[in-house]
Amino acid sequence: MRAYDCIRKKRDGEELSDEEIRYMISSYVKGEMPDYQMSAFLMAIYFQGMTDREISVMTDLVAHSGETVDLSGIEGVKVDKHSTGGVGDKTTLIVAPIVAACGAKVAKMSGRGLGHTGGTIDKLESIPGFRTTLTREEFFDTVNRVGVSVIGQSGNLAPADKKMYALRDVTATVDSIPLIAASIMGKKLAAGNDSILLDVKTGSGAFMKTLEGSVQLARCMVAIGENAGKRTAALITNMDVPLGNYIGNALEVKEAVATLKDAGPEDLTEVCVELAGNMLYLADKGTLEECAEMAAGSLKDGSAFRCFLNMVEAQGGDISCILDTDKLPSAPLTYEVRAREEGYVAHMDTEACGIASMLLGAGRETKDSVLDYSAGIVLKKKPGDYVSKGDVLAVLHASREELFQAAEQKFLEAVRISAERPGKQPLLYARVRREGIEKF
Ligand code: URA
Repeated sequence: MRAYDCIRKKRDGEELSDEEIRYMISSYVKGEMPDYQMSAFLMAIYFQGMTDREISVMTDLVAHSGETVDLSGIEGVKVDKHSTGGVGDKTTLIVAPIVAACGAKVAKMSGRGLGHTGGTIDKLESIPGFRTTLTREEFFDTVNRVGVSVIGQSGNLAPADKKMYALRDVTATVDSIPLIAASIMGKKLAAGNDSILLDVKTGSGAFMKTLEGSVQLARCMVAIGENAGKRTAALITNMDVPLGNYIGNALEVKEAVATLKDAGPEDLTEVCVELAGNMLYLADKGTLEECAEMAAGSLKDGSAFRCFLNMVEAQGGDISCILDTDKLPSAPLTYEVRAREEGYVAHMDTEACGIASMLLGAGRETKDSVLDYSAGIVLKKKPGDYVSKGDVLAVLHASREELFQAAEQKFLEAVRISAERPGKQPLLYARVRREGIEKF
């Protein structure tokens, strides 16, 4: 078999056999195929797509390219969650403790941020002392005792994805449905949970910018999960505006803690209750309505906050920073971005907001960039708000004065002000299950 023939076949829109896909992926992972051939192959997939069979073969190869996790040492139903990535998306910090407080187990492996999107592991590492690498025994023990543990993905979990994702990231082949589906579901299947809830983001801050694309991606991933014997569902949620008001690692922990104390912003609270309710439903804890009520109740009675506190303590984090979030890393410098004209905030290009936050030091431009945990943006206005000229739109946080100019420019480019009041956008668009789609 030759890589050249497989590339040509896909380029010409033909369907590849199981053996051809296996040959391409395994040669690349073993280091027997150069990056330029895999890049051409990925670009051919980007343009020609893949059939359901091809996607499921590729997913299985990704899942079995390294170690697979056996979670049977953890009692009870283990339920996983995955977000396709966004700006201000701190939902895992809130949803995982809610689910644990309501009686399901969350043994979660999360990723780091790249480009305009943030990552849960970076956010957790902004809590002084918090360890995101635990031994298998420590991980299992924390989940059994506390109900929840969130750690970084082990280096040998789905190494095929690691290698291909790095290449996709520099060859403009990230936003392809078959490639995203195989990447996410390959990792989820390797992580060994019983059920999976997918949070598929849609809008200007998401990889999938259109609702149709997001629904298609959700359907594809739900089918892969169900065919692998996992209860799987997806919620399509809005990422056309940053979620909550805080963007940046320690800033997002701060907002997550407020939300766990039932004092968070409405949009973030609503999305988290819905995600947690769906996870509890997948873990067989009741009807969807009962599960959403349970989730909301755990914010009100403080049980979700206690679970988070217990997890931070179990993983070595300084809980005094959670009891008083003013003790979290905080930037020495702030800068107010002011409106240049009056009118309604009509739109916020969310990817650009993420890039502005990255320019302040909160995100990674390349995988080796060093993060400033205290950096980021606090939004003071969101779409639908009216502003007068000179009103503060946002406060930028950074450690160096010279970072503000480029970040302010990027942020101002992201915000469109108009005389007309924009329509209210939904937070949740649809739920996708094996049985079909429910539009909200
Ligand atoms: N997140 C992933 O894990 N993989 C993708 O391909 C895109 C988003």
